[in-house]
Amino acid sequence: MKSNLLVVSNRGPFTIEGEMGNLKYRPAVSGLVSAVLPAVKKVGGIWLAWAGRLTEKTLEVQTVIKDDFNFVEVLLSREELKGYYEGYSNGVLWPLCHLMPEKVVLSEENYRIYKKVNQKFAQRAGTLLKPGTLLWIHDYHLALMPYFVRQKYSWQRIAFFWHIPFPPVEIFTIQPWAQEILRGLLGADLIGFHTEDYRENFLRSVERVLKIPVNYEWGTVYYNGREIRVKAVPIGIEPKNFQKDVPKIEEIEQDLRGQIIFLGVERLDYTKGLKEKILGFARFLEKNPEYLGKVILLQVAVPTRENIAAYRNYAKEVLEEVQKVNERFGHSSWQPIKILTRNYSQDELIYLYRRADTLIITSLEDGLNLVAKEFIASRQEPGVVILSNRTGVARQFGVALKVNPYSPEEIAGQIKTSLEMSLEEKEKMFAKLKEQVLLKNNEWWLDNFLGKELMLSVAPGKYYRKRGEKKIGAVD
Ligand code: G6P
Repeated sequence: MKSNLLVVSNRGPFTIEGEMGNLKYRPAVSGLVSAVLPAVKKVGGIWLAWAGRLTEKTLEVQTVIKDDFNFVEVLLSREELKGYYEGYSNGVLWPLCHLMPEKVVLSEENYRIYKKVNQKFAQRAGTLLKPGTLLWIHDYHLALMPYFVRQKYSWQRIAFFWHIPFPPVEIFTIQPWAQEILRGLLGADLIGFHTEDYRENFLRSVERVLKIPVNYEWGTVYYNGREIRVKAVPIGIEPKNFQKDVPKIEEIEQDLRGQIIFLGVERLDYTKGLKEKILGFARFLEKNPEYLGKVILLQVAVPTRENIAAYRNYAKEVLEEVQKVNERFGHSSWQPIKILTRNYSQDELIYLYRRADTLIITSLEDGLNLVAKEFIASRQEPGVVILSNRTGVARQFGVALKVNPYSPEEIAGQIKTSLEMSLEEKEKMFAKLKEQVLLKNNEWWLDNFLGKELMLSVAPGKYYRKRGEKKIGAVD
């Protein structure tokens, strides 16, 4: 183990399946995992998380030793999963933070369970802390955990990264537990968001709800005798993970041959604007019949959070919309939309990123969106990015073709623009996007968000930074 870092998140780097003696580890798919895994591999330490298993079914695995880090599992009961993950995390915080209050389902009982599970994670983390450990907690599932750890270990260094948008105070306070959540987060010493807007929204909530003075310019909050720093540092990916050779996916080739491919890669989540994308694509076909038979929308739509009614309904509605558009414009040998509703491995996604001509993202609200970065990192050939202006990454990708996802006209218009761009224009745009992705990579994120904190947490002589050198070096 290279460092004294303890990472905690709800979902870990893999899910565990099978029985004791015959356990299988499957890579987990989520924005959080793609960003945190390369960081933990680089720095080392322990990762504490839920691995998809329930207490009723199995025994806890104490530690899984991976080459670069150790993994420790937290088990949840069915009741905990329902109240903490499905109920409060994904039934209240997720829709509120994505500005969709109409999807919120408030329940005192779910919040009580959320609190209890946060306490459980805090207790478990407590058993793994050593002098000098840096505790790094992730995301909205564990907002109260910094408070619980601080209560018991007042000296502990705690960093927290919030991976989704942070909404304006008027929206955040629709829930009656806003005060407690904010106090929970302020148990940390360092809190990170993807964009300046989210950081400002958080600081305003602290100021208004808790009546604590904050410094917007410096991003500081003084609370209970501690200085808390609040930063905006967008996550970066590890580009080299997307530059490898990958096998062809034969079974989809038949439908793609000769077509100009517009690619979408999303979980089947109501924040992702899939219905809006389909509407915009249909509007394009209606206005530009000369493209019928020549273009295809290839949409990867990964099933997600299927125990929650809002997700099940959404998945059904999306499939219905696809069918409508295919019936309206398609015929026996050509369908305008091909939807793929399974999980795709990283290798398969790289293949699709390279095979497509244009990536199209129409999220209604999106913390950052790493797919845009992965698409750029995977390719040598220039590819166009059509990007919702309501994603965190839109702030970084200034030159991408932007759309308001609520406007089918704008989506149709930018689809047309992408088809009419010259190779030179595409190359210029792509080069600028690639520069961003390569420069603001995973190491840049780690260094800018956690840099100094990390140096303190790593055993002397194991971690160093040479004068004038921009890189983080974890050296054994
Ligand atoms: C997305 C969000 C992450 C979040 C994750 C949870 O990827 O960007 O911030 O942690 O969803 O996904 P899950 O499948 O665990 O609900």
